[in-house]
Amino acid sequence: MATRLSVNINKIATLRNARGGNLPDVIKVALDCERFGAEGITVHPRPDERHIKYSDVVELKKAVNTEFNIEGYPDERFIELVLKLKPAQVTLVPDEPNVLTSNEGWDTIKNQSFLSSVVTDLRAAGIRVSLFLNPVMEFVEGAKAVNVQRIELFTGRYAALYPENEEKSIEPYVAAADFASEIGLEINAGHDLNLQNLKFFKQHIPALKEVSIGHSLICDALYYGLENTIQLYRRQLSD
Ligand code: PXP
Repeated sequence: MATRLSVNINKIATLRNARGGNLPDVIKVALDCERFGAEGITVHPRPDERHIKYSDVVELKKAVNTEFNIEGYPDERFIELVLKLKPAQVTLVPDEPNVLTSNEGWDTIKNQSFLSSVVTDLRAAGIRVSLFLNPVMEFVEGAKAVNVQRIELFTGRYAALYPENEEKSIEPYVAAADFASEIGLEINAGHDLNLQNLKFFKQHIPALKEVSIGHSLICDALYYGLENTIQLYRRQLSD
C-alpha cells in the first residue's frame, strides 16, 4: 500500500517569522511542495503562533490542493478554527502551550470524556480525526473508544533508538500497528522521521497510510533542494 507524504511546513513559517516580512512565502512553498510531489500539507498552529499563524492556516486552506492536515491541541480557538475550515484531517496532539515540539502522545484513558466530545464535534463536521499516540496498546484501544478513524504513532522514540538497535526500535510500533489494524483504526506516523529511518519504518508497518514530516525534510532541503528532497522522501515510502 502506498504511504502518503504530508510535508509539515511549520519550519518555513519559523524562518519567515525570524524577519517579519513574507519571505519565504508559506503559501508558495506549500504549492511548490505539492508540485514537487507532496501528497499532503500539514500545519501545527500553536497558541503563541511562533511558527505557523492562525491567519496562515486560513489562507492555506484556500490554496492547498492535496490533503490538508491541521494538528494541534484542541483548545477553544483551535476547535473554532478547524470547524470553520473543515480540513480533510485534524490530528489532535496533547501539547502543553509552551513545549518546543510535540513529544508525547495522548493518554486516551484519562482524557476519554474530553476526547470523545471533541471527536464527536469534529466528525459531525465531516473531518477525519487522528490522535497522536505512543505505541501503547491501552491507548490504542482508548483511541478506538473515542471513535477516531486514525491514530498517528509518535515516532520520536523510534527515531532515537533506531541508530543503535533497529529491531528493538520498531518492535512496539509493529505491535501497536497490528493491534490498531485489527480493531479497525488506520495508521499515520510522525516525528523525527528522516531519510535514514523512514524506509525501515514503512517496511515494518505496511498498513501505514501517511507520514507527516517537517524538521528533517526542511533541513535536507538546504542541501538537496526542496524538489529533490521531496522525491527522496517519497522514494523511501514506495513499495
Ligand atoms: N506529527 C506531529 C503531531 C507533530 O507535532 C510534528 C511536529 O510538529 C510532526 C508530526 C513532524 O515532526 P518532525 O518535524 O520531527 O518531522
